Amino acid sequence: MIFKLLRSGISIDDSRFNEIYPPHIKELAGRHWTPVDVAEMAARYLVEQSGDRVLDIGAGAGKFCLVGASCTSGMFYGVEQRESLVEISNNLASKHNIQNVEFIHANIDQISFTDFDAFYFYNSFFENLDTSCPIDNKILPSTKLYDRYTSYLWDQLRRTPAGTRVVSYYSGWDEIPESFDLEYTAFGGYLNFWRKSS
Ligand SMILES: C[S@@+](CC[C@H](N)C(=O)[O-])C[C@H]1O[C@@H](n2cnc3c(N)ncnc32)[C@H](O)[C@@H]1O
Repeated sequence: MIFKLLRSGISIDDSRFNEIYPPHIKELAGRHWTPVDVAEMAARYLVEQSGDRVLDIGAGAGKFCLVGASCTSGMFYGVEQRESLVEISNNLASKHNIQNVEFIHANIDQISFTDFDAFYFYNSFFENLDTSCPIDNKILPSTKLYDRYTSYLWDQLRRTPAGTRVVSYYSGWDEIPESFDLEYTAFGGYLNFWRKSS
């Protein structure tokens, strides 16, 4: 029902969407998973043409991709380092028959950006610096890892062609190369829409 509504352009309440998750995943939503209205707005910007390939960098429990795949005609890919979250996401996609989405268990530094047209980034590497509300106890704080992933992302974005879109949410912009222009912002400046000019 939830996905039927999203497919027909009707937005749904965030707490209602989060009911699809088991309790321990639902509890993390406020801090770690993109709100439905944010995901819809970001996905509609990222998908310009039917079939555009969008990568969610750190897909978590799949929320951004599941919403984006339901409210647009793009193809959504979520890369996620935690295998248990990839399993939850893939199970939800098949349970709700969402076919334009795929979840990949990998670290972002194993992914080449050449296969994608657009990118979504919800400050995924911040968990390496801030341990105030962890997803689990598997990631130990490490400034080095934060720096390594951020520069990998920056470098991959630097190599993308003109016209590439990025939406960043709660990010400090460290990962966005200068060749991207900020087109506009929303949600009090926390959601930013970028397009590569050259
Ligand atoms: C803030 S959550 C966002 C989840 C999802 N994008 C959403 O908006 O609903 C960030 C996720 O990124 C993942 N992550 C962090 N560093 C990563 C890395 N280097 N490679 C792959 N996934 C990573 C974390 O495991 C976490 O699930």
